[in-house]
Amino acid sequence: MIILSGIQSSGRLHLGNYYGAIRQFLEFQDEEVALYFIANLHALNSVRDGKQMRELTQDVAMSYLALGLDPARAILFRQSDVPEHAELFWILGSVVPLADLMNAHSYKDKVARGQSADFGLFAYPILMAADILIYNSHVVPVGQDQRQHLELARDWASKFNRVYVPGYRPDDPEGLRGGTPGVLRLPEARILESTAVVPGTDGQKMSKSYDNTIELFGSDKAVKKAIMGITTDSTPVEEPKPVAGSALYGLLKLMAPAADFAEIDRRWRAGGEGYGVFKKELLDLFHATFDAARARHDELSKDPGAVERVLQDGAQRARSLAAEQMARVRRAVGV
Ligand code: ADP
Ligand code: TRP
Repeated sequence: MIILSGIQSSGRLHLGNYYGAIRQFLEFQDEEVALYFIANLHALNSVRDGKQMRELTQDVAMSYLALGLDPARAILFRQSDVPEHAELFWILGSVVPLADLMNAHSYKDKVARGQSADFGLFAYPILMAADILIYNSHVVPVGQDQRQHLELARDWASKFNRVYVPGYRPDDPEGLRGGTPGVLRLPEARILESTAVVPGTDGQKMSKSYDNTIELFGSDKAVKKAIMGITTDSTPVEEPKPVAGSALYGLLKLMAPAADFAEIDRRWRAGGEGYGVFKKELLDLFHATFDAARARHDELSKDPGAVERVLQDGAQRARSLAAEQMARVRRAVGV
């Protein structure tokens, strides 16, 4: 199977990115082809400074490698190094109904949160669909918030095939029952439901746009400050602590091994200990879970040349796959 996923280089990675997305990407590395890319073209919609863009792109690459992406098994590359993504974006865009984009909720959400209402943001789902379809991907592991984008990618692939592939039958997209197979394969989303939403330090969804993140590769001091600053209520030390809506409880549940969490849960409900004790435990869990990756990240940051070589090599491998698919698309549309 061909597995593909991308992550924007629009900020430093946080716990929400890891538990909501990256952790499961890495589980697919042993599939026949696993492609992971840094969506820097998508990030242009929010990062408007060239120097910062280069730094963030490099940082996301290092973060993937530090968290266990193995370039011997998976292909890691920068979206902008494979121009076929942008080329398919345009061709696909010619069959995309405007109404689909107008109904897409991520555009509306992002504009509501203050991002500027530019064409790039509006057209974002088409580029994302092109990212997926250019490799004939079977499965796309993503966070919950990307579900609609995957549905759109399927709809548009199907429409493209109906328009351009004579004999294509939408009820037989792979041509297994007598129809002609499509040029574009309909991808499937793989969504991890259990950690659908990781809470941030203020109890809302953890997100860099809410300034409530715990960064995976922040300094020890910054991590401590974020964890010790998690919002809690004023339940007195001796009383049982409420569970519903508590970010601290949610994060402990996410990070503690299930066997240890049962005991944490019991103490939480029993009362007698203050929130500070539980915050300290979360901090210890954070370090136990991520210190090995944090050390690798430090090492990689001393050797940017090595990271660059991984990206260049990845781009070359990705390009040879994308070029084949692009040739089929060009042939189908007659350009
Ligand atoms: P942010 O909200 O910080 O801007 P992104 O939108 O760049 O994060 O998210 C990248 C990936 O990480 C997405 O697939 C998304 O589903 C996942 N993700 C981000 N924040 C969370 C969270 N709080 N809980 C679960 N998954 C998350
Ligand atoms: N939109 C995705 C996000 O914000 C990133 C992304 C871009 C992506 N292109 C993709 C994810 C293709 C999967 C497949 O998380």
